[in-house]
Amino acid sequence: MAPSSKANDDIEQEQLVCVTGAGGFIGSWVVRELLLHGYRVRGTARDPGHSRNTHLLELEGAKEKLSLLRADLMDPESLHTAFRGCHGIFHVASPVSNDPEFMPVAVDGTRNVMSAAAAEGVRRVVVTSSYGAAHMDPNRSPNDVLDEACWSDYDFCAQTGNWYCIAKMMAEMTAKEEATRLGLELAVVLPCVTMGPMLQKDLNSSNNHVGRYLMGTKRAYPNAVALYVDVRDVARAHVLAYEAPDGAAGGGRYLCASVVLHRAQLVGMLRDLFPQYPITTKCEDDINPRARPYKFSNQRLKDLGLEFTPLEKSLYEAVICMQQKGHLPVMAKQQPLANL
Ligand SMILES: NC(=O)c1ccc[n+]([C@@H]2O[C@H](COP(=O)([O-])OP(=O)(O)OC[C@H]3O[C@@H](n4cnc5c(N)ncnc54)[C@H](OP(=O)(O)O)[C@@H]3O)[C@@H](O)[C@H]2O)c1
Repeated sequence: MAPSSKANDDIEQEQLVCVTGAGGFIGSWVVRELLLHGYRVRGTARDPGHSRNTHLLELEGAKEKLSLLRADLMDPESLHTAFRGCHGIFHVASPVSNDPEFMPVAVDGTRNVMSAAAAEGVRRVVVTSSYGAAHMDPNRSPNDVLDEACWSDYDFCAQTGNWYCIAKMMAEMTAKEEATRLGLELAVVLPCVTMGPMLQKDLNSSNNHVGRYLMGTKRAYPNAVALYVDVRDVARAHVLAYEAPDGAAGGGRYLCASVVLHRAQLVGMLRDLFPQYPITTKCEDDINPRARPYKFSNQRLKDLGLEFTPLEKSLYEAVICMQQKGHLPVMAKQQPLANL
C-alpha cells in the first residue's frame, strides 16, 4: 500500500474511502483528516440528513469530496451500497454504551461491515477498537507494558460488568477472523479515553466525563488510572494505519495513547487550567493505596510518524469547545492556554 513515487502518491490520495459513524466525535475528525489528505470520502450515518451531521458538510474540501449516505450496521444491504466502489473502509461506528443489549450491534455489525467490504472488493479496513479490548486484565502487573500484544480478560470483564470492553474485544476478534477468512487487509486502532474539541454539536461521552468533573456533578473520582489521548491524534492514527506498508498493517494493531494518569492527576490538571469551576476534589476510596500507573507503549504509532498532543492542550480545547457549544457555563474570565 505504501506509495513509491509522487505519481503513486497522487493516485493513492484520490481514493474513495468510506467512514462509518461519520458524524460522531471520532468519526468527524477521521473524515476531516481524510479530506485534508485529499481522499474522496463517503460518510455513513443512520440519519445523514439530521442536523447532528450537518457540521460534516462545512469541513474544508467537503463540497468537492464528501458525500453522506444512510447506513445501519444491522442492515447489510445499506453497507453494501455505502461501500460500493471504495478502496478502503474506516469502521468507526459502534454504540458507546455499557448496556449488554448493544453487544450485537458492535459484534454482528462489525461482521456485516467485513463481509460487505469483501463483497464490494474493498482492499483494506481500519477498525476502531478501544484500549478496553486490551487493558482489562487483573493478571497484568503495573510493571508489564500494555501494548498491542495485550488482550482484556473476558471473564474479568464479565465479573466486573464491563460490557463495553467485552463488546469492543469481541468486535475486534470478529474483524480479525473475518479479515483472514475473506482475504481483507485489516488494521486496528485502539484509542484510549479520547479528549479534545468536538466538530459535532452534541456532547459525546468521553468529553462529558471531563464536564462532570469540571462541574463537580461527579461527586467523587475513583482510585484508578487511565490512558488518555487527543481526538486529532486518534484521527491521524487511523489514516497512518490505513497508509502503512502492507507488512506493518496486515492484521496490525495500534495502541493510540499519549499519557497515563491517576484520576487525581486528571482533576488536578483541570483545576490548574480552570480554577473557577467547582471541580470534584474527593476520591471515592480513602482506604486502599493509590492505584499505580502502568507502563504502556505507543511506539508503533510513533514509528509511523505520529507526534502526540500534550493532554493539557486537549483538555483546555475540549472545555473551551464545550463552553462555545453550550454544554458548559462560562464561569469567569479565563486566560488563554499560553498564559497559564
Ligand atoms: N471516545 C472515546 O473515548 C473512545 C475511546 C476508545 C474507542 N472509541 C471508539 O470510537 C468509536 C467512535 O466513538 P465516539 O467516541 O466518536 O462516539 P460517538 O460520538 O457516540 O459516535 C458513535 C457513532 O456510532 C454510530 N452508531 C451507533 N450505532 C450504530 C448503528 N447501529 N449503525 C450505524 N452507526 C451506529 C453513531 O452513528 P449515528 O450518527 O447514526 O448515531 C455514531 O456516529 C466507537 O467505535 C468507540 O467504541 C471511543
